[in-house]
Amino acid sequence: MEISEELYSSGAKCIKIYQSKQNRDERVKVSGWVHCIKKREKDLMIFVLRDGTGYLQVVVDDKLCEIGNNFLLTPESTVTLYGLIRKVPEIKSTLDSHELICDYLKLIGLAPAGGIDFISNNKESKLLSDNRHLVIRREKTSKILKVRSYLLQVIRDHYFERKYHEVNPPSIITYKMEEADNMFKVDFFGEPMYLTPSSQFYLEISLPTLGNVFCVAESFRREETKSRRHLAEYTHVEAECAFITFNDLLNNLEELICDIVDKVMKSPAGPLIKDLNPNFTPPKRPFRQIDYAEAIIYLKEHDIKKEDGSYFEFGEDIPEMAERKMTDQMKEPIFLCRFPASIKMFHMKRCPENEKLTQSVDLLLPNVGEVIGASMRRDNYDELLEAFHQDGLDTSLYYWYTDQRKFGTCPHGGYGLGLERLLTWLCNWHHIKDVCLCPRLVGSFQP
Ligand code: 4AD
Repeated sequence: MEISEELYSSGAKCIKIYQSKQNRDERVKVSGWVHCIKKREKDLMIFVLRDGTGYLQVVVDDKLCEIGNNFLLTPESTVTLYGLIRKVPEIKSTLDSHELICDYLKLIGLAPAGGIDFISNNKESKLLSDNRHLVIRREKTSKILKVRSYLLQVIRDHYFERKYHEVNPPSIITYKMEEADNMFKVDFFGEPMYLTPSSQFYLEISLPTLGNVFCVAESFRREETKSRRHLAEYTHVEAECAFITFNDLLNNLEELICDIVDKVMKSPAGPLIKDLNPNFTPPKRPFRQIDYAEAIIYLKEHDIKKEDGSYFEFGEDIPEMAERKMTDQMKEPIFLCRFPASIKMFHMKRCPENEKLTQSVDLLLPNVGEVIGASMRRDNYDELLEAFHQDGLDTSLYYWYTDQRKFGTCPHGGYGLGLERLLTWLCNWHHIKDVCLCPRLVGSFQP
C-alpha cells in the first residue's frame, strides 16, 4: 500500500544537512544521495545521506523497514526523507553529531546495485579517469573540491580587501604569447586564433582604468609532458600592479601566499586541509630568496644534474625535476629571482645592475615546485618595441598592448599563480589532475 507523502510532510521544515544541529528535535524534510549503507536488517536500516553541505546518519525506523521497497535502496540513490533530528552521543569524523530518525522515505532515483563500488577499490587509472564523474563523489575528492571552492573565495577576498578590481579577459586571442607550438589553435569564423596561455597583456591594459587588477581565468598550454604538475587547461590567478618596484612585487607575493593560507585555514576548508594534510604548517616569513645564478651553483654543489648526467650551466632553463629536488631539500618556499633574459619573455624588465638579467621571480614550494611566475614589465615604449623586433614579432598585432606604454606608462609588474599547483601543495596531493573537477591533459579529455 502506497503511503501518502502529505501525511508526513506537514510541519516538516525543509533543511540542508549543515542545518541539522540548529534543528535538533525538530521535524524536517531533507533530500540527498545515499552515501553508504551501514546496516540493513529486517527491522533496522542505517545509512549515510550526503547533500554537498554535509553527511547525515539516517536511522530508518522499524515501521518503514517493513515497507519492502527500501530494502532495495542502493548507494548513490537519491531520496527525500522526513523525520526527527536527534543528537547522537558518538561523533564520527565526517559525520555531524546529529542523526535523522526517518519515518518516511521517498525514493527519487534508484542507482544500480552496488552504487559506485566498482570504482571504489580500483586503481586502474583509465577506468578512474573515464569515470571521473563518479570518482568525484568519493569523500576525499569531494573534500579537495570543497577546499578548491573556499580557496577561490579567499583569493578573491584577498584582492578585494586591497581594492583590486576583477576583470574577465578573453580566452580566444589573436597573438602568440608563448611559443606557438605551446598554444592551442582554434578556428574563429575562419580566422586562425589561439586559446590563451595567460591573461597578462589584458591585465596590463586594465591598469589605467581600474588600478590594480586580478583575474581568475582558464589558461591553456599544449603541454605534451605527462608530468604530475602540468595540465593542458588550468585555472590561472593573475594580478597586475601599477607603480611598483621589483621589491614591492616580492612583498606582494609573500603577502598573497601568507594571507590566503591564513584565510583558508580559518575558513571551513581549514579542517578539510588538516584532514587531507595533517602535517601542514603555514609558511614562515620572510621567504628565502635566491638568485638564478646562485641556484645554478647550488645544483652543482648538491650534485643535482641534467637528464644527460651533466651539470646545469648559467643560461640554461632549470627543468621541473631539478627545481623540485632543490625545493624539497630546502623544505621551504623559495623566491628564485633574476633569470637571464635569454630564457625569459621579451616583455620582462631588465635589472638595472645587469642588463642580461630580468626582474623576474618564480615562487617554488616544497613537493610542487613552481607555483607562481612573476616579473616587472618593460614600461618604456621604444625599448618594448625593440624587444618585439628582436623576437621577430609583428608589432601590428600588439598595437593595443604597446599603446599602454604610449598613453601614460608607469612601472608595473604582475604574476600568474597556478591554482591547481597551490592546491596540491595545500592538500599534499601527489598528482595535479586529482585537484580538478575534470582534468584536461594529454590523453585525458573525458568526461
Ligand atoms: O610562469 P607562467 O608561464 O607565467 C605566465 O603565464 C605569466 N604571463 C603570468 C603573469 O605574469 N601574469 O605561469 C604562471 C603559473 C606557473 O607558475 C604555474 O603555477 C602555472 O601558471 N602553470 C601551470 N599550471 C598547471 N599546468 C600547466 N601546464 C601550467 N603552466 C603554468
